[in-house]
This record gives sequence, structure tokens and C-alpha cells, in this order.
Amino acid sequence: TKGLRVSDKGYLNTAVMRSEITFIDGDAGVLRYRGYPIEQLALHSSHLETAYLLIYGSLPSQPQLKVWEDEVMHHAVVHADAEQFFRSFRYDAHPMAILTSAFAYLGSYYSEANPSLQGQSLYTKGSPESFAVMDKQIYRLIGKATTLAAMAYRVRQGRNFVTPPTGLSYTGSFLYQMDYLGEENYKPNPVLEKALDVLFLLHADHELNASATTVLQTGSSLVDPYSAIAAGCASLYGPLHGGANEAVIRMLISIGSPANVPAFLEAVKKREKVLSGFGHRVYKTSDPRSFIVRKTADEVFRVTGKDELLETAMALHEAAMKDEYFIKRRLAPNVDFWYVFTSRLLPCKLNCSVLRSGLIYRAMGFPLDFFPVLFAVPRVVGWLAHWRQMMLQPGGVKIWRPRQIYVGETKREYVQSMNAL
Ligand code: SDX
Repeated sequence: TKGLRVSDKGYLNTAVMRSEITFIDGDAGVLRYRGYPIEQLALHSSHLETAYLLIYGSLPSQPQLKVWEDEVMHHAVVHADAEQFFRSFRYDAHPMAILTSAFAYLGSYYSEANPSLQGQSLYTKGSPESFAVMDKQIYRLIGKATTLAAMAYRVRQGRNFVTPPTGLSYTGSFLYQMDYLGEENYKPNPVLEKALDVLFLLHADHELNASATTVLQTGSSLVDPYSAIAAGCASLYGPLHGGANEAVIRMLISIGSPANVPAFLEAVKKREKVLSGFGHRVYKTSDPRSFIVRKTADEVFRVTGKDELLETAMALHEAAMKDEYFIKRRLAPNVDFWYVFTSRLLPCKLNCSVLRSGLIYRAMGFPLDFFPVLFAVPRVVGWLAHWRQMMLQPGGVKIWRPRQIYVGETKREYVQSMNAL
């Protein structure tokens, strides 16, 4: 292991590859997808158009966008067999556990390019048929992500599954499947549908975060992309990463009111509590996405009314941003802090304002533990963009196999332990 240098804890300041996909400047609070500033894409693009940009490297022409959207939406349907798979989960299974398993399930289903059957991966030959296989896998994973998420939501409520509708947008189809209750003239609320599309776009990619790295680590063994995406979904599930949006709400509920914020922050300083939704490995000034999410939240609140937790969140934000402990550690709110308010209100108010008011709909709000699923669904795009870039890298795929510096016991002889007698 001569000449090896240990990268700091958790790959701190360690670059493992070159990439053309996403650029982040953590000190300046800059985020660009393939060179386009996130602010411009959030304003002018859509999640699916941005997905095409991230995966294929340039914005699609109108005809290309039409084909892309049709293919993704066409592949939203899952085989009827999937219903028994979903029904095998307990009613209280965490939806991220269900979704993670569902992506791996897809891998068992489509063995069309099982690399182990192809010897060296079919993909790296860069042949027309390999591009065709890869594109179909990409359509399937993006198209089915919303369907699998909606099925995870419904299986927990003991409700029947819904066939993805035709003629609706990506987020419109998702909201339809989430809330459909036999409404023949179901029309998603355009404000909430657009808000969710902006949030999906913002969450589409973020360079080599923990889950994208997991997808690449897994995919480097040439396993199928469904299994690699399942691994990335498992990584996103953690409260330090995508699970933070669920943890933020649980934190705010536990704080209870603005009056309890100072005591909570003292507990954080004593490391008795974690300030979820704050801090970031890369952004040390501000997460550019949080400003856009906050603006989106204001638009949503105009439709749905404010969330009672918002006062506590604002008080927490205010106090933490003035506190030397957090300023010194450059802990600004990250994308999860403000995101939870828009996703928390969507389905519940959507039901009230669009479908029909009624206690049953209000009772149908997104469950708290469903929030990481709202992160995973759009992040499938970024995971696939990195995976495709790796599959097509010049010279073919190298398995990711880091080394270590061994600091354990030196050689010692085996002696039967006395207490075994
Ligand atoms: C996402 O990587 C990505 O790009 C992720 C993401 C994406 O789009 O993929 O942006 C999405 O995962 C956002 C992050 C969501 N996680 C949370 O909100 C959980 C709370 N945040 C922390 O767990 C933490 O900030 C991390 C995990 C996000 C970052 O961890 P780091 O890189 O180890 O933090 P750091 O080295 O910058 O910490 C510096 C100091 C340390 O204190 P000291 O040991 O030096 O005294 O700040 C402390 C940390 O202990 N600290 C916190 C804190 N975050 C860091 N202290 C209290 N509360 C926090 N939230």
C-alpha cells in the first residue's frame, strides 16, 4: 500500500472521477446542470426536458423532446405481476424500503441486458444496439419511478393500484395516481403540478452526492442499472442525505413552537440533537436550490394556506443564522429545509382545493415518511446520467475498488482460547 494517501473521512476533498454533468461551487453557492444555471432551468425548463439535458448532454429539440416525453410516459406502466410484489409488504413498511426493493425487483424482471450474460458489458461497446438497450432502461426507470412510488403509497393504505393515465404531465400523472379516487374528470391543480415539477427539477442531480456515488460504485461491477439504482435509493434513504426532509419535519414537530427554539439550539450545540435541514458537505454559504424552493413554497402557500410549522421553521432559521456556533461552521439551510413545506402541503390541499373537500382527502396528505420518496423519484434522473456517463467512458468501465491503510494487528500465531474449555 506504498504511496497511498488516505482521503479524509467520508471522501472529504476527494475527487474520484471527471464528469461533464453537474457543476457546483460550494463557496459561491452555484449549481449548473451541463452548464445551465439552475435558476434559469427552474424558471424556463421542465423536469423531463432537464432530465434529457442531464442524461444526453444538450437540450432536446422540440421533436426530440416529444419523443423523449412519449417514451418515458409510455414506460410508466408496470407489469400486473408487480401488484403481488407490493402486496407482500406490511401495511406499515417504510415507503423508501418498498421503493428500494421495487427498483431491485425491476432488475429481476428485465434480464434483457444482464451484463453477466454478455461477458464484458454490452454497453461499453458503444454499439447501436447497446445504445438502444440503455435508452430503454433509462425510459423504464424514469417512467416507472412515479408509478412505483404511487404503488408504495397506496399499498400502505390498502387501496387498489391505478394504471398511469395518458395525456397528463409527468407530475400530473404522479399526482393522479397518488390521489385518484374514481374521479372521472380529475384535473390536477396546475399551480401544484408546476410546483412539484420545479421541485423535481431541483432534485434531479447534485454531482457526486452519497447516493450517486453508490450507484456508480455498484454499477462499476457491470450489474444491471435497476440494481444500481436500487443501491442508490438505499443510500438516499439515510437521514444524513435524502432522509433529512422527513427528519426536518419530525425535528420541527418535536420543537413544537418558536418559543422552544433557543433551548433546541442549545441541545444541538451540546450535540444532543441534530439540526436537520442545515449544513452541507459542499455548500458553505447557501444552497442555491433553497432560494428557489422557498419562492415555490410561497406560490404553493397562496393556494393551500400556510403550514402551522412554518413559524417554528422561520424562527429556527432566524436564530441559527445569527448564532456564532452555526456561523462558524457555515451551516446554512440546505435544499431539504424549505422543500418539506411544499411537498408537505401538496396532496392534502390538492384534494381539498381540486378534487373535493372532505375529511377523507385531508386525511390523505403525504405521510411524513413519504418525503424521501419525493426526493428519490426525481433523483433517478441524476443517477442515470452518471451511470450512462460511466458506461460510455472511453476505455470501458473500471471496477471501483479503493484500497485502505491497514492499521490492525500485526501477524500473530493462533492459540486455542482457554475459556473455550
Ligand atoms: C442532501 O451531497 C449532496 O449534494 C446532498 C444533497 C443532494 O442534493 O444530493 O444536497 C442532499 O443530502 C442535503 C443534506 C441533508 N442532510 C441534512 O440536512 C442532515 C443534517 N446535516 C448534517 O448531517 C451535515 O451537515 C451533512 C451530513 C449534510 C454534512 O456533513 P459534513 O460534511 O460532515 O459536515 P461538515 O464537515 O461541514 O461539518 C462541519 C461542522 C462539524 O462540527 P465540528 O465537528 O467541526 O465541531 O458542522 C457540524 C459538524 O459536526 N455540523 C452540524 C450540522 N452539520 C454539520 N452541526 C449541527 N447540525 C448540523 N446539521
